[in-house]
Amino acid sequence: MDRIRIRGGKPLSGEIPISGAKNAALKLMAAALLTAEPLTLTNVPRLADVRAMAELLASFGVNIQVTLSGNFGEGDTMRLEAQKITSAFASYDMVRKMRASFQVLAPLVARERAAKVSLPGGCAIGARPVELHLNALEAMGAKIELAEGYVTATAPDGLTGAEIVFPFVSVGATETAMMAATLAKGTTKIVNAAREPEIIDLGNCLIAMGAEIWGLGSSEITVQGVDKLHSAAHRVMPDRIETGTYAIAAAIAGGAIELIGAAPDTIASLNALLVKSGAVVTTTPRGMKIEMNGARPKSSDITTAPYPGFPTDLQAQMMALMAVADGTSVIKEKIFENRFMHVPELARMGAQVRIDGDTATVRGVEKLKGAQVMATDLRASVSLVLAGLAAEGETTVGRIYHLDRGFDRLEEKLSRVGADIARVSE
Ligand code: UD1
Repeated sequence: MDRIRIRGGKPLSGEIPISGAKNAALKLMAAALLTAEPLTLTNVPRLADVRAMAELLASFGVNIQVTLSGNFGEGDTMRLEAQKITSAFASYDMVRKMRASFQVLAPLVARERAAKVSLPGGCAIGARPVELHLNALEAMGAKIELAEGYVTATAPDGLTGAEIVFPFVSVGATETAMMAATLAKGTTKIVNAAREPEIIDLGNCLIAMGAEIWGLGSSEITVQGVDKLHSAAHRVMPDRIETGTYAIAAAIAGGAIELIGAAPDTIASLNALLVKSGAVVTTTPRGMKIEMNGARPKSSDITTAPYPGFPTDLQAQMMALMAVADGTSVIKEKIFENRFMHVPELARMGAQVRIDGDTATVRGVEKLKGAQVMATDLRASVSLVLAGLAAEGETTVGRIYHLDRGFDRLEEKLSRVGADIARVSE
């Protein structure tokens, strides 16, 4: 099995190109199911999760052509054509690897009027149920049956617009409701919708496909159903979690990095914290720049929240930074239970963290020490890489298939800015 080996202590300098957003790309790919005409996505990141979604869509009869980009700074082009859907069944084997594959349920029901999809697996970060998705489809007239780990949703006469009031904010359930509503009869109002930039990206792509949607980026989205969607081309937005991760890399390792193609306005909550911790963050014509001129970062308290709050997907990375900060930080995880699995691994490197329910108290230490650690989930694993960049000596991170799910050519990007990092197989 491959591992990542890092020799810490090198300040970073140079440029890192930011890839297309995983969490946007996966849903954009699922949206291709809504039309018989081709959807062309550009700036698609090269990730295991993208390949898994392509495999799942191909099993429904979607014809997929990928043109690999020869330019390191530009993503691939993917043409998806769901001319005829030959199967609307997503097996446990397909869905367990990646929770986002559950997002095929809504477009399949909307277009084919029936689908059977396994309940999801994905990162082991808490229970992560899907009742909000199912309630939304039910409100739109679908009949939902749960048996033997599968959801069967049927709407023989098609879906109908409805008012859907979410009891709390869910990114995935908002996307389910929005995709289903594009082909429903009448108007759908989604109340307490998620406001994440990836929702706006998906909504804009659906609009380019002929959907009628208002209120993207606000907590109330209105969709007027149409009979059909059509062909479109859409560029995947830059990955704000990848952007944030490399910004934190600069802060933890020191030095200066420009993140080419980044959209700094999508991570304003992180940038405010980085500035507080002593970094200089500037918007540049090509993206954003982060500089940490050798100073030790200062501690900061962090609470995760739905957008525009601080993203849970950057919590582990910020904990790595706070682990070497001057002072004590209190980190509250409010989105997912059980999302502190990186803590015992960071502790192996000398981090001083105490957990009490959803709260971690991090007492910054002057230096972390390299160690052998194990990735437990996607975002947790990259926090160990960041800690390794700052640590004295050598760190090896095992189970890096978690990293390959969500970070496009991570070692290459980091070694181009001077990190001593390599993939080693044993
Ligand atoms: C998406 C992102 C993930 C990110 C998360 C929160 C993708 C592929 N993944 O996940 O990286 O961490 O948003 O920003 O885009 N919940 C329920 N019932 C439901 C749905 C959700 O209880 O039916 C709970 C979840 O367990 C969680 C919270 O709601 O505690 C938020 O989850 P949600 O926003 O739905 O996250 P995902 O869409 O799964």
